Amino acid sequence: ENNIQIGLLGLGTVGRGVYRIITGNAENIKRKVGAGLEVKKILEKDTAKLRDLEIDLSKQTTNIEDIINDPEIKIVVEVLGGIKPTLDYVSRALENGQSVVTANKDMIATHGKQLFALSQANHADLLFEASVGGGIPIISTLKQCLAANRITQIIGIVNGTTNYMLTKMTEEGSDFTEVLQEAQAKGYAEADPTADIEGYDAARKLAILASIAFNSRVVLDDVYVEGITKITASDIAYAGELNYIIKLLAIAKETGDGIEVRVHPTLIPYNHPLATVNDVYNAIYVTGDAVGDTMFYGRGAGEMPTASAVVSNVMDAARNLLHEVPGIISCTCYEEKPVKDMGA
Ligand code: NDP
Ligand code: HSE
Repeated sequence: ENNIQIGLLGLGTVGRGVYRIITGNAENIKRKVGAGLEVKKILEKDTAKLRDLEIDLSKQTTNIEDIINDPEIKIVVEVLGGIKPTLDYVSRALENGQSVVTANKDMIATHGKQLFALSQANHADLLFEASVGGGIPIISTLKQCLAANRITQIIGIVNGTTNYMLTKMTEEGSDFTEVLQEAQAKGYAEADPTADIEGYDAARKLAILASIAFNSRVVLDDVYVEGITKITASDIAYAGELNYIIKLLAIAKETGDGIEVRVHPTLIPYNHPLATVNDVYNAIYVTGDAVGDTMFYGRGAGEMPTASAVVSNVMDAARNLLHEVPGIISCTCYEEKPVKDMGA
């Protein structure tokens, strides 16, 4: 039986979800792809670490070479996070012609340009659906289903941790530090949650969305960023008295004098659709010249929603391999466009 062999980098929150879906939904996946998927090797820091999963010890390794130098491994799934050593691992996998699926918005928002060039040069897919909106299919929607439009604006709640925190602080009067710990325990927060509460996670996601929507290359440094650390219980109470709610919004617009990209807490009227997006849910409003207003909604973080996006990308990469067109989805043309200086 010719299963497509996968190397999984990382067995944390998302990695465990990926393993669970690939093994638990194996028959369903095989019918849809036309071949089975098999996780051949898993990179971990510590193979003795206790997990709530039973995995054959022979699959586990602490040596990246066991994955990158294995010609049978055709798809590398990167769910380690961070830039070091991840960027090196992903670059080498692409150079070897292995397709890469990643959930790493940090790496895509800062080094996407060089990675897309590697993917094209080596005819290998580089897919990153889970990097924005967790389980919401927003990247493929912008790249494919809305491609006919000139996108004028994106407004989104794109960080699950801070939306969970603001919801609990608004509805239950919860304390900032306690509710951040809850979000961490649920697997929503980044390894360093500063990126969530200071707005950098949302800014990375906005850079990715704006790049695709406006067919350009927007990077993290282009985005004006303000997080939720200065929001107090009294800010939330005053906003409520005026029938407003506070949300951390990510906003991207293509204006006559450049692309505008910013992340900051925003007052939203209670009856606005984004005001009803609570808990770990995310929502992304996209306006296109032909389609008009659209909105995409779903769980923005957590093990299984994120793994749903990762494994769907793995299935796309597997189909491309079977049909001998790896790299085809990742082929994009783009233009360098000016980005407005918002004092970022
Ligand atoms: P975790 O911290 O839960 O998992 C990362 C795993 O990778 C850990 O098991 C860690 O080991 C391991 N790891 C890190 N560096 C290395 C290394 N150099 N060699 C071997 N193993 C390593 O993170 P998540 O699963 O939450 O996130 C993974 C990625 O997915 C990140 O890029 C994140 O931004 C992204 N993401 C996460 C979402 C979520 O809801 N959690 C949603 C969307 C995207 P150890 O624990 O021993 O340090
Ligand atoms: N820390 C991120 C969030 C994970 O809370 O949205 C999903 O990208």
